[in-house]
Amino acid sequence: MKNPNRSHQFLEGERIYLRGICLSDVTASYERWMNDPDVMAYLESRFYPHSQGGLRDYVGNILNDKSNVFLAIVLREGDRHIGNIKLGPIDWIHRFADVGISIGEKDCWGKGYATEAIRLMVHYAFTKLNLHKLTAGCYDANRGSEKCFQKAGFSIEGRRKSHYFCEGSYVDAILLGILNLEKSKTDL
Ligand SMILES: CC(C)(COP(=O)(O)OP(=O)(O)OC[C@H]1O[C@@H](n2cnc3c(N)ncnc32)[C@H](O)[C@@H]1OP(=O)(O)O)[C@@H](O)C(=O)NCCC(=O)NCCS
Repeated sequence: MKNPNRSHQFLEGERIYLRGICLSDVTASYERWMNDPDVMAYLESRFYPHSQGGLRDYVGNILNDKSNVFLAIVLREGDRHIGNIKLGPIDWIHRFADVGISIGEKDCWGKGYATEAIRLMVHYAFTKLNLHKLTAGCYDANRGSEKCFQKAGFSIEGRRKSHYFCEGSYVDAILLGILNLEKSKTDL
């Protein structure tokens, strides 16, 4: 069946596209991702259970909040919604924002989709929103996250020692960032 959201695609990539999240995206699959210990292993959302009602409230709130851009990651082939990516909160004075990503469908891990989605978001943030810098963060053990951000152009800016409580011990936080270099040159 053709996905009715297909026409809303916002950022087009080679194998995926990103489109605005809508309330109808809060499906049983989305609820499954948010309660899957593998997907949530290094996410702050893991500490509480998630219901479709609660997720609908979250999505509804974020849709009304212009300091966040929350997009669905969708495979071009078959229009399958496999995860989400968020830019925000955006600081409009300093012109930076954080990027967070989650690929909920585990059979889609390791295929380069997160890297592609982050690249699309970076391009949008720098060329359309005129942001100066993007940041991201992950747990030290989350190699996949660290690597996909680096592949998309982020560099490691620092490490916060013993920052997160994870599986019974404290682990470091890795801080990543990317500058809009073209914009920095014209700032002078
Ligand atoms: C982390 C996550 C976003 C990575 O998504 P992905 O689509 O699998 O990432 P990519 O395929 O673009 O991978 C980029 C690189 O990381 C590597 N990688 C991915 N997962 C990995 C893992 N668990 N361990 C080691 N390397 C990994 C890939 O092999 C690839 O490197 P390569 O091109 O040299 O082979 C995904 O696993 C996920 O959503 N996890 C759950 C939520 C989460 O942790 N989000 C990040 C929070 S900061």
